[in-house]
Amino acid sequence: MIEWDDKYSVGLSIIDDDHKKLIGILNKAIYAKEHNANSKELREVLKEITDYALKHFKTEETYMIDFNYTGYQDHRKEHRDFFTETIAYHDKLIEGDCQIANEIIEYLKWWLVNHIRVTDKKYVDCFKRNGLK
Ligand SMILES: [Fe+2]
Repeated sequence: MIEWDDKYSVGLSIIDDDHKKLIGILNKAIYAKEHNANSKELREVLKEITDYALKHFKTEETYMIDFNYTGYQDHRKEHRDFFTETIAYHDKLIEGDCQIANEIIEYLKWWLVNHIRVTDKKYVDCFKRNGLK
């Protein structure tokens, strides 16, 4: 399980709230895997995290466009790469490959923590300059 910690905060409450929610869904996925969830259950929680991520990425990208953030293209590419990966994992689960669960969880943990702590932090000054709190 990943526990929310100040080191994950980007200092913008609207973004932190979304990230807390994403970590919460990730914890559901970790719990499901540890309790030997079947392929269908894993697919459902993977879908939940990608659906919420889609909504959250849209929020971030809308601010980036509105605030003329210079790192927009690179950031958007990271979001898209995340989708490409999760769709591929989803397809593997449809084929009934439950052995992939560990790999999926490790990928989601790595991606989320790295993205929040490195990539998202880069837009914070720009967002704050534009009045976001
Ligand atoms: Fe992001």
